[in-house]
Amino acid sequence: MNTASAPGKVILFGEHAVVYGRPALAVPVTQLKATATITKKSPRGIWIEAPNINLSKDISQLPPDHPLAAVINSVFSALGTSHPPACTVYIQSTIPVASGLGSGAAVSVAILRALSAFLGQPLSDEQVNEMAFEAEKIHHGIPSGIDNTVITYCKPVYFIKGRPVKTFHVGAPFTIVIGDTGISAPTKASVRSVRKLWEADKPRWEKVFDRVGEIVWNARQAIERGDLVDLGNLMNANHALLQRMTVSSPELDRLVEAARKSGALGAKLSGGGRGGNMIALVIKENAPAMAEALKSAGARRTTVTQVE
Ligand code: MEV
Repeated sequence: MNTASAPGKVILFGEHAVVYGRPALAVPVTQLKATATITKKSPRGIWIEAPNINLSKDISQLPPDHPLAAVINSVFSALGTSHPPACTVYIQSTIPVASGLGSGAAVSVAILRALSAFLGQPLSDEQVNEMAFEAEKIHHGIPSGIDNTVITYCKPVYFIKGRPVKTFHVGAPFTIVIGDTGISAPTKASVRSVRKLWEADKPRWEKVFDRVGEIVWNARQAIERGDLVDLGNLMNANHALLQRMTVSSPELDRLVEAARKSGALGAKLSGGGRGGNMIALVIKENAPAMAEALKSAGARRTTVTQVE
C-alpha cells in the first residue's frame, strides 16, 4: 500500500492576471488536503474510488480526458509501465471542489506521488509539477501553473508563468481567514470569461493586468517588511481589479464587505472567483471573531491559516 497527500492552496494576490504573464503570490494551506492511497486489492483492473465525487469505476469506464484517468495514465506512460498491475486508487479530499483552493491540483499531485511510489519508481518534484500542470489543462483550459507549483513544492511562491519557482520571505507571520461562499464555480469558466474580455480589448486589459502586477510586487515587499497595513490595502485594491474583471460575485462581495466591517486589514476573493472562497487578513487574535463574522454573513465554512 502507498499513500501520499498534498495540501490545498490560496492565492494571496494576482489570480487571473497571472495567466497573462504577471506575477502572483500563493501559499499552501496544510489544514486542507487530498490523499491518494494505492492498494493491490482491486475488483478488476485499475479501480478508482473517489467518494467525494461519488466515483467508483474501473479506469476503462472513464473517458481518457477525465482528469483522474488522465493523471493515472500519465504515470504509466512516464514510467513505461505497459502492463499496469491491478490496483485500487482511493482518493479522499477535505478540499472543497471548484472553490479556488486547488482541489484538482492537490488530487493530481497526491495520485502522481502515491502511484509512482507504488510502482517502485517515485517521481521527482519537477516531474510531479510538470505532470500535474498537464492535468490542470483539463481542469482549467489555459492554466498559469501556479496551483500545481504551490501544491507540489508546498511552500509560499512568487510565481511567474514559465519561470523557475521562487519562494518569498515572510518578514512577520500573518493570519488569513478563508471564507467559503459554498458556491462551486469552475475556474475554467471564469478564466474563459476573462479571456473573452481580453480578446475584445487587449490594450485595456493589459493595463489592468499591469496594475495587478504592480500590486503583487508591492505586496511581496510588504510581506517581506512585515507591513500588514500596507498588505491589507493592497488586498482591497486587488479585489477591486478582480471585480472589474467580472470574476467577483454578490456572495463574494458580501463576505469581503463583512470582513472589512469586522476589522480585517484587507480582504479579497481568492482563486478563480464567481463563487468559491475569499480571504481576509487579520491580526491573529481576531481570527476566531472574523470566522464568526464571515459565518454570520453567509460563509458555509471558514479556515484559519497562518503564513510564516
Ligand atoms: C486559479 O487558482 C488561479 C487562476 O489565475 C487560474 C490560473 O492561474 O491557472 C484564476
